[in-house]
Amino acid sequence: MDEVKKGLEGVVVDESRVCMVDGDEGKIWYAGYDMDDLARESSYEELLFLLWNDRLPTADELDGIRTEVQERRALPDGVAEVIDREAERTGPMDLLRTSVSALASYDDEPNDLEDPADKCLGVVAKMPTVIARAHRVREGKDPVEPRDDLGHAANFLYMLNGQEPSEGEASAMDSTFILYAEHGMNASTFSACVTASTLANVYSSMTSAVGTLQGPLHGGATETVIDMLEDVGDASNAESYVEEKVSNKEKLPGFGHRVYNTVDPRCAHFKRHIEEINPDAELLGVADAVRDEVEARLGDKGIWPNTDLYSGTLYRELGIPAPFYTTLFAASRAAGWSAHIAEQLEDNRIMRPRVNFVGETGREYVPVDER
Ligand code: ACO
Repeated sequence: MDEVKKGLEGVVVDESRVCMVDGDEGKIWYAGYDMDDLARESSYEELLFLLWNDRLPTADELDGIRTEVQERRALPDGVAEVIDREAERTGPMDLLRTSVSALASYDDEPNDLEDPADKCLGVVAKMPTVIARAHRVREGKDPVEPRDDLGHAANFLYMLNGQEPSEGEASAMDSTFILYAEHGMNASTFSACVTASTLANVYSSMTSAVGTLQGPLHGGATETVIDMLEDVGDASNAESYVEEKVSNKEKLPGFGHRVYNTVDPRCAHFKRHIEEINPDAELLGVADAVRDEVEARLGDKGIWPNTDLYSGTLYRELGIPAPFYTTLFAASRAAGWSAHIAEQLEDNRIMRPRVNFVGETGREYVPVDER
């Protein structure tokens, strides 16, 4: 029997230039650039160019990618109709997954893999439109069509809330897109790569990734963190809450990570934006208190805050309802998924691992009426 690497821990599946996560130092490098600098200085559109081209764009190239994203935001009527019909009874992540999948029907050549980044751009551009429309339909409001004079983040908030965001809100939203844009090899990215490795089309690969992100051990934690913070209710309850969870050996959402032995570096950026938008944010003090209690009890065990601890609180301050948090993680990470899909296709070999068979062989088949 070969050694089983449960959860594929420590398994190296390929080489990549897209992103390096240094879990010991708590640093993230997007195509060689410090994530801290990009989160402060860059824009999501610039990051798309960087991740897809392995270099920063010139001013003209940046204008070019901005224009392309703007021009491809509108949804095909058929996808809009699905959202309008299903949004009330379908969870936002299920609807996003279905919509991404449905986009293949509106591509004349969905199976063309010549320029995967270009096809992915169409998906990346439309995901915020899907999310905003689903939110408005659930609220019984008319959908707001995208504007072609706003950046990716500002336009999303405009479509969501029906009014142009302030500069601070747009900048915080842009930063959330950047912070979640890429994180090396992880469950959803791996899922995208597995599907791409079969030479399936990019709509299938992106759909696989959205589905994989949904679970509470991955992107779904953004929502469960808010449930937890609301359960705690007040910073003064954090000690007893964490004590009880730890003694019951329950996992606390927003903590722990396979690769970090320290605080996830994205936490500080989410926290900074919450403080800028609303220093009195209701759940910020609760999150800090829970963080202190968890670090005191589980820091020795390597359990530190991950990016999801503060992201939901920022989304909440931006007027985004909790059931949509994971969809925004998906809309952001679509940048990284696309880059990895393109990289996979550049030098592809089908992913085909094995399992150690521990069942029986040689069992005699008995017809059903003789059992
Ligand atoms: N709270 C308390 N204890 C934890 C936590 C946590 N959040 N995370 C891990 N542990 C403990 C486990 O109970 C386990 O303890 P044991 O050895 O005594 O049994 C040990 O740490 C190892 O945990 P695993 O689940 O084996 O670690 P793994 O690397 O497989 O999982 C994961 C990583 C899924 C992120 C995990 O830490 C977790 O479930 N966290 C909560 C959910 C979450 O926040 N997910 C978001 C991840 S980040 C992202 O996707 C953006």
